Amino acid sequence: MAETRIGIIGGSGLYKMDALKNIEEVQVQTPFGSPSDALILGTLEGTRVAFLARHGRNHTLLPSELPFRANIYAMKQLGVEYLISASAVGSLKEEVKPLDMVVPDQFIDRTKNRVSTFFGEGIVAHIAFGDPICKNLAVVVAEAIASQNLPDITVHRGGTYVCMEGPAFSTKAESNLYRSWGATVIGMTNLPEAKLAREAEIAYATLALVTDYDCWHPDHDNVTVDMVIANLQRNALNAQKVIQETVRRLSENPPSSDAHSALKHAILTNLDKAP
Ligand code: ADE
Repeated sequence: MAETRIGIIGGSGLYKMDALKNIEEVQVQTPFGSPSDALILGTLEGTRVAFLARHGRNHTLLPSELPFRANIYAMKQLGVEYLISASAVGSLKEEVKPLDMVVPDQFIDRTKNRVSTFFGEGIVAHIAFGDPICKNLAVVVAEAIASQNLPDITVHRGGTYVCMEGPAFSTKAESNLYRSWGATVIGMTNLPEAKLAREAEIAYATLALVTDYDCWHPDHDNVTVDMVIANLQRNALNAQKVIQETVRRLSENPPSSDAHSALKHAILTNLDKAP
């Protein structure tokens, strides 16, 4: 099988990449069960990539139901070294408006019911996660967005992504709390992915696609799923252009990443298993 160094995870609204050529559908099995759906292998800009619809191609999985470990393990098995995660988010700041794109550099964990590690059961290890996003990959994504000159869309470089459990959206009190913490956007999926990718030594960056102002906003009494999906569909074409350009840049000039040696610097405390 040809080398597949770049993985793409598509969130709500982004269930396929139209520009993918020479498509091959692979049902990957992992020790953690099946991924959310078949992985779609193909070429984008002449480069082999693996695409996975995070919620399944028919959007059948809730955020809390996602097989995060199987998804990341499957990418690793295919040889993926760079993972671009396109994800719908709500905005927690006035200046980050619906349809804008954010490339966050931090996370706050508000999940309650996720398995976000490959470790345990005798493997006691702690990876560094102070910088949860690969800085160099994030630069490539942000530059790719900027290069597209998308009308009326602002690219926000950096920012904090609050990862909540869902599936219900936030209360106003919660939304205002996150704003008081200085957070930028809110979503339901990216933190477990980022942690697992780091443990798997895969460079990870989020392309956050703003679908709504979260419920703190005076104009926005309630976030509806219809609103989220409608905006993400408008975003989906732009997101595909950005991803295509990111892949082109990555294949021309793959950046170095600290994530690629994350385990070298992990703290291993189980003396039985120490090398
Ligand atoms: N995904 C898209 N919009 C969201 C919001 N407002 N809160 C949480 N996740 C979201």
